[in-house]
Amino acid sequence: MRKIIVAIDGWSSCGKSTMARQLASKLNYLFIDSGAMYRAITLFFSRNSIDLENMDDVKKALSQINLEFVFNNENGNTEICLNQENVENVIRNFDIAARVSEVASNSFVREFAVAEQQKIGKRKGIVMDGRDIGTTVFPDAELKIFVTADIKTRVIRRYKELVLKNPEITLDEVQHNLETRDYMDSNREISPLRQADDALLLDNTNLTPTEQLEMVLSWATAKING
Ligand code: DC
Repeated sequence: MRKIIVAIDGWSSCGKSTMARQLASKLNYLFIDSGAMYRAITLFFSRNSIDLENMDDVKKALSQINLEFVFNNENGNTEICLNQENVENVIRNFDIAARVSEVASNSFVREFAVAEQQKIGKRKGIVMDGRDIGTTVFPDAELKIFVTADIKTRVIRRYKELVLKNPEITLDEVQHNLETRDYMDSNREISPLRQADDALLLDNTNLTPTEQLEMVLSWATAKING
């Protein structure tokens, strides 16, 4: 059966990664969370106090970064390793979320991450989610999906996740972070978040995860058989 690339883009906290992971598992494809790469780079920059304004520092730091995805047999997830350290959990912290859009708008960071993503995509049979997958990373992807949901729904979904780790967090803080990231991600100079002309729009505000999965699975199956 022919293997395709599924590119999933959309606003922060729309459930893109969950949907992409489930779709990849149904299709027996590799799931790649490109946002995890930007988060891992942000973690490295924070730990090493890299000044984003200093391009030499940024380039040197990127040359010291090795990113790999490993499959966790226990939970069935693909997890990211930064220089051989599994950082899948630590990159989900709020301090990383607060800085990642700024780091992701740096041209050298984007060049580095996009090259890594394109390398992984050579094998086809992947589902990748992010902000510029259908527009920049894989403009020829066979299936492109742009995911959206209303802001209140997204804030509540993300709050429920974050409050487990950080009971002090408030709905207002989460909303502020999502709105700021949406603004920065869609207004940056290089490959801003936007719906590719040939992407299918998926608004999941009122869809259950099962309904959503059935919908995208039917789109993917049609492309694979088409
Ligand atoms: O999907 P996420 O929330 O984990 O992504 C974290 C940040 O990384 C997001 O705010 C913008 C950036 N990002 C990006 O610029 N391009 C991508 N392909 C994926 C993520």
